[in-house]
Amino acid sequence: LIKNNIYNFSHARTALKYGLIACGVGRNDQVLLPSYICDVVIHPLLSLDIQPIYYEVLEDLSPDWDDLSKKVTGQTKGIVMVHYFGFFQDIQKFQKFCENNKILLIEDNAHGFGGTFQGQILGTFGQIGISSPRKSYQVLNGAYLYLKNNEIDIRHLSPLSRDKYFGSIKIILTSFLNKLSFNYPNFSSQDAFEEDQILDMLIDEDSYAYIEGQDYQANQNKREQIFNFWLKCAVENQLEPVFAECGQGCIPLVFPAYTASHAESKKWFDWGRRRGIRISSWPRLPRAVVSKNSSAMMIWQRLICFPIDLSMDPKALEKKLTALSGPEI
Ligand SMILES: Cc1ncc(COP(=O)(O)O)c(C=O)c1O
Repeated sequence: LIKNNIYNFSHARTALKYGLIACGVGRNDQVLLPSYICDVVIHPLLSLDIQPIYYEVLEDLSPDWDDLSKKVTGQTKGIVMVHYFGFFQDIQKFQKFCENNKILLIEDNAHGFGGTFQGQILGTFGQIGISSPRKSYQVLNGAYLYLKNNEIDIRHLSPLSRDKYFGSIKIILTSFLNKLSFNYPNFSSQDAFEEDQILDMLIDEDSYAYIEGQDYQANQNKREQIFNFWLKCAVENQLEPVFAECGQGCIPLVFPAYTASHAESKKWFDWGRRRGIRISSWPRLPRAVVSKNSSAMMIWQRLICFPIDLSMDPKALEKKLTALSGPEI
């Protein structure tokens, strides 16, 4: 990886913000995003006065290309391509689309840090690439920005280490309380992940050293094993996997599957809570998407995520769950 083109931040949303600034995207420009996107990705756009324009996604989480083509205007400066849960999009098709429309490809690999496509690291295919290793590892913070042709000076920003000690305690305490079912998020509500805008900050040294010291291959193998375990479990319980397999180079963040309805999703969240398995929904969608009752909202209601966590032991998981079946539907 070409380290010169990489910048580190505390969060991927901040990485996106500085990527956009570096590429000269700003006031009154438009950026296309999938409507199935978490609310926090909109924060950097709003802070730069960039207008988010949403394109629809299909059930396999690929874009509705017809809809997408209609959304390009003279003000469009870029398009965000999201490798949902670490599963890559049709990268070449996106690249072609951007070339034809003379817009920037913004590659959001927040979920699949370390993954590759045809041997090339995800997050390096567009003019701007972001990833969020803080989601894949138990670290306080950490996100990477890749810039293909541009540079940016971020020396004026400080690292998010002020509350390092408190932050680590918070991670441990939250996961402990969640295990005890206190403070457990209500995943059937959009409000489970309400987040305020954050300050622009860099990664802290400890998180950086931790992330850089990881064995990505071992991480990938383990995540794939757990993915395959959930896949088996989902099929046995009549759930519909969003992705039928882990492609070569993909590092899955979670195992996503469709239920038949929002009511069934709620039963699964509850089933997981009672067994100490954090089955979750996708984070909050942008307000404009929720209120429109778009295809993204339909997906939001039916898509549930089974956890893949490096502290899990796939064999123990198998033992624990062989005798169990899913909720009564
Ligand atoms: C697809 C996607 N992109 C970007 C982000 C932002 O990442 P971070 O929380 O590190 O800012 C998220 C966060 O949930 C996300 O799901």
